[in-house]
Amino acid sequence: MNELEHYFRGNDKRLIHKWLHYFEIYDRYFERYRNREVVLLEIGVFHGGSLQMWKEYFGQKAKIYGVDINPRCKDLEEKQVEIFIGSQSDRQFLRNLKTIIPKVDILIDDGGHRMRQQIITFEELFDHVADDGLYLCEDLHTSYWVTHGGGYKRRGTFIEYSKKFIDWLHAFHAEQKGLPVSSFTRSVDAIHYHDSIVVIEKKKRSEPVDARTGQASFEEIETVEWWRPSARFFIRQLNLILRFFRLPGVFWR
Ligand SMILES: C[S@@+](CC[C@H](N)C(=O)[O-])C[C@H]1O[C@@H](n2cnc3c(N)ncnc32)[C@H](O)[C@@H]1O
Repeated sequence: MNELEHYFRGNDKRLIHKWLHYFEIYDRYFERYRNREVVLLEIGVFHGGSLQMWKEYFGQKAKIYGVDINPRCKDLEEKQVEIFIGSQSDRQFLRNLKTIIPKVDILIDDGGHRMRQQIITFEELFDHVADDGLYLCEDLHTSYWVTHGGGYKRRGTFIEYSKKFIDWLHAFHAEQKGLPVSSFTRSVDAIHYHDSIVVIEKKKRSEPVDARTGQASFEEIETVEWWRPSARFFIRQLNLILRFFRLPGVFWR
């Protein structure tokens, strides 16, 4: 059991509500920020217990911000912990928040878990995460719950929305105009899906470069006899047509 889970299980301070398997995930990504000047923002304060937990885990140099729609949460502020009252689906509130707080190293969306809330929060706050920071959206299982606007492959869920991240990550390799290189492509190193949490790790990226080193072990496949330029041209044209209709391609080498 890691220190965070240990804290949670022994917690007799303010109430915390977390899924137990999250603690291993947190520790895996957050450990490197401990005892550093980390800035953390958590959407969803509840009774303030998780903010106290982050403060304890990250140490005295940490600055912890919370956001909640419930005005009573304002009373839960304490040393190192500042709380803003507003809705995570209010774009203007989030834009204003960005003018008040510094760029954040770790952003945790543990708010209302409704689809619109998660999407708006991502759209407004992702660029306020530091270049080497982390963006976490929690309780993704609500994307499968009808109570929260979810449903398997249902349009508008955060899970369906986040599937676009996979394409955006690979845009440097796309040949089609429909997938341009974006600020997401240039700023994201990895996307980790865990049960109910996605962790987006940021890192500035430029166009990837491929290279070869060392000695060849056998002849290149292109030199095999049947492979002719005309066949290559024909297969390429056929594949372009199949791609246009989003059909699987034919084998080409
Ligand atoms: C799951 S609880 C947060 C749990 C807390 N992070 C913890 O670990 O103990 C969800 C919180 O999100 C807040 N919330 C719900 N809708 C919200 C919204 N639209 N904007 C901001 N906060 C919201 C609720 O008031 C509630 O306190």
